[in-house]
Amino acid sequence: MVLQYRAAVLHAAQTPMSVETVTAAALKPNDVLVRIRAAGLCHTDLEVIEGSLRYPLPMVLGHEAAGVVEQVGPAARAVKPGDHVVLSWNPHCGHCFYCDRDAPILCEEYLGQGPKGVSFDGESRTRLSDGLPLQQLMFLGTFGEYCIVSDQQAIPVPKEIPFDRACLIGCGVMTGAGAALNLGAIAHGDTVMVIGCGAVGLAAVQGARLAGAGAIIAVDIDPAKLVLAAAMGATQGVDASKDDAVVAGKQETGGRGVDVVLEAAGSAAAFRVTAEAVRPGGQIVWLGKIDVNKDVSFRWGSLMQEKRIRRVSYGNARPRRDFPLLARAYLDGDLMLDELISRRITLDEVNDGFAALKRGETIRSVIVFE
Ligand SMILES: NC(=O)c1ccc[n+]([C@@H]2O[C@H](COP(=O)([O-])OP(=O)(O)OC[C@H]3O[C@@H](n4cnc5c(N)ncnc54)[C@H](O)[C@@H]3O)[C@@H](O)[C@H]2O)c1
Ligand SMILES: [Zn+2]
Ligand SMILES: [Zn+2]
Repeated sequence: MVLQYRAAVLHAAQTPMSVETVTAAALKPNDVLVRIRAAGLCHTDLEVIEGSLRYPLPMVLGHEAAGVVEQVGPAARAVKPGDHVVLSWNPHCGHCFYCDRDAPILCEEYLGQGPKGVSFDGESRTRLSDGLPLQQLMFLGTFGEYCIVSDQQAIPVPKEIPFDRACLIGCGVMTGAGAALNLGAIAHGDTVMVIGCGAVGLAAVQGARLAGAGAIIAVDIDPAKLVLAAAMGATQGVDASKDDAVVAGKQETGGRGVDVVLEAAGSAAAFRVTAEAVRPGGQIVWLGKIDVNKDVSFRWGSLMQEKRIRRVSYGNARPRRDFPLLARAYLDGDLMLDELISRRITLDEVNDGFAALKRGETIRSVIVFE
């Protein structure tokens, strides 16, 4: 039987998505059909809508989701119907140059097919109702009632974690907390600065707290975000629209500069601040992004003195290892997710949700599917 379902389709950048009926492809051997129960609206989706991140269209966006496995292909492993899963946007082949060097985020098949909006076999798993091609963002496309993914992208998590909170683990929380925990090299007692306190930055604040940071300086241009950052573990907030984050970092560290700085604002100005704020020999971690064709300028002196700069996608995620750990941290009360959800919306409200994100009114809007 052919499965048809409702999904939000982006037909052209800078236009609203239209919620329409689309058609699922037949399951391939390693495929998994997931009924989406909750999907977060991430800044990266907004970049595709605005056209600064370019993909072939039409496309179903959405790449941060949780749901229930409905069907599995005959060769699908480690997941079964009824499992509650969080979806990963980083499938990887396991045997290319980069997979062999423990960098699945650089997997040649992942990087080769991702920009085309299709699966590793070159085919999308969804079509428009008239049969014309429809791409999937980041091997997912979760702004719909269903999503077909490869088995390695569907990661079982404990059933106790509600879907609307679990979905956040799939992108924003993994990215921010993972960067702090897996790559920030945060030592016990370190002074950590997080610039940009949206979902990714707030997860980074929490990652820094869990890593044992001594002081956490949260920086944003929106005071409301700083209030949330304080609730999640920041020991100090800097409103960058009027105060200087570099000065605050130096004051906290006897003039040295912060040990670790994470950028989660996606702003050229913030990238520059990271280099100025970190101490000699300190660690800079960039999570945000801007249009790939734009330049960012730095004062050369700010880059000297053995500073380490790392641009990180997905927080060095190993989803099978990290998603259940993050879910457990939530269930144990160590990771705050409820506070990241500003609004729960329906699929039909998806365009309003992105308008609110653009206006800076929300951390995460989450589409809840009944
Ligand atoms: N590396 C990855 O794998 C990955 C994954 C998801 C998102 N991202 C990127 O991370 C960034 C953050 O994503 P998000 O969903 O949390 O976005 P968001 O829009 O919710 O949050 C961004 C925050 O940065 C603040 N901000 C903007 N300019 C600033 C400045 N100059 N100084 C300080 N704060 C500033 C905003 O007020 C906002 O609170 C985006 O660039 C997004 O594309 C990266
Ligand atoms: Zn690979
Ligand atoms: Zn995302």
